[in-house]
This record gives sequence, C-alpha cells and structure tokens, in this order.
Amino acid sequence: MFDLDKFVEECRSAVKSVSSHMSVKALLEEACSEPNEVLRALGEPSKAGAFPIYNSPDLTILNLVWGRNMSIMPHNHEMWAVIGLYTGRENNIFWRQLPEDAENDIEAAGAKSMGPGDVSPLGKDIIHSVTNPLDKLTGALHVYGGDFFSVHRTEWDAEDLVPRPYDIERNIAAFAAANGE
Ligand SMILES: [Fe+2]
Repeated sequence: MFDLDKFVEECRSAVKSVSSHMSVKALLEEACSEPNEVLRALGEPSKAGAFPIYNSPDLTILNLVWGRNMSIMPHNHEMWAVIGLYTGRENNIFWRQLPEDAENDIEAAGAKSMGPGDVSPLGKDIIHSVTNPLDKLTGALHVYGGDFFSVHRTEWDAEDLVPRPYDIERNIAAFAAANGE
C-alpha cells in the first residue's frame, strides 16, 4: 500500500546518505512496483502540470502529469533525478552535447519508453526531451536531488536545437496549453 507521506519521509532520509540517488531509485522502484496503489493514493490525473509534493534545497518531489500528446523540448536539470511512472506512457529521448564545431549543439543519443512501473535514474548532466504519446494523461513521480525551482537550467529549442536559459514561464504555458487554457 503506497503512503505518500511515508514516501516523502523516506526520500528526505535518503538524501542525507552519500548514495542518495540510488537510495531514491530503490524507493521509487518499490513504490512503482504497484502502480495502481500510487494511482489510488494520488488520484486519477485530471489536469496536466508539475505539482509540487515536497520542495527543499536538497530535495524536490513532483507529481508530473503530462497532457495528452504533450511534448517538452530537450532540457537538463543540473541535479540528479529519478522518474517513476504510475499511469500512461512517457517516451524519453536522451541527447548528448556535441563539440563546438558541430552543426548542432546536441544530438539524440538514446531513447527509453516508460510505462507503469518503470523507473529511470537520470544523472546530473543528462539532457532529455519527453513526449506523452497517448490521448490520455500520463502520471509520474519525479524526484530531484535539489531545489528544482531555483536552479538555472538549459533548454534547447525543439526545432533548431539552439540552447537557451530554461524558461519556466514557457514551460508553465506549455502545460496550460495542454489543458486547453
Ligand atoms: Fe526533465
């Protein structure tokens, strides 16, 4: 039985350890091994958004709900992250940074399609873009090893792959557009 308060407490304890990234991965794997229990605890997603569950200087836990057929451009986090899916599907493309003389700044280097129960740890320097390929909402727990809302990150334009500072307003607008707002 998934208990959100207990999960938050366990993540708070985990980030105090030296291997916090892998400890949080183990906690998410345990939680997402029963995705329907997470769904029951958080409720059926009704709206796209990045809903904060917990936020401190060393830990952020979000309930990430991707809108129908929503895509988000390549971006980094500047901190480790662990993603756990509990409903729907999240298609990740992982990107690698190219040398300065290359035509583009980044290129696609790998992919991972995540369904309910799947957990992905992302290293500090990972660049990814995300698509929800479904005509329904996708729900995930995203745990970050820092303050997700105050770190200066980079995003890459989805069309020409040119880097620019991460624009939180643009991302909030993307979720609003996914909600038809
Ligand atoms: Fe991300």
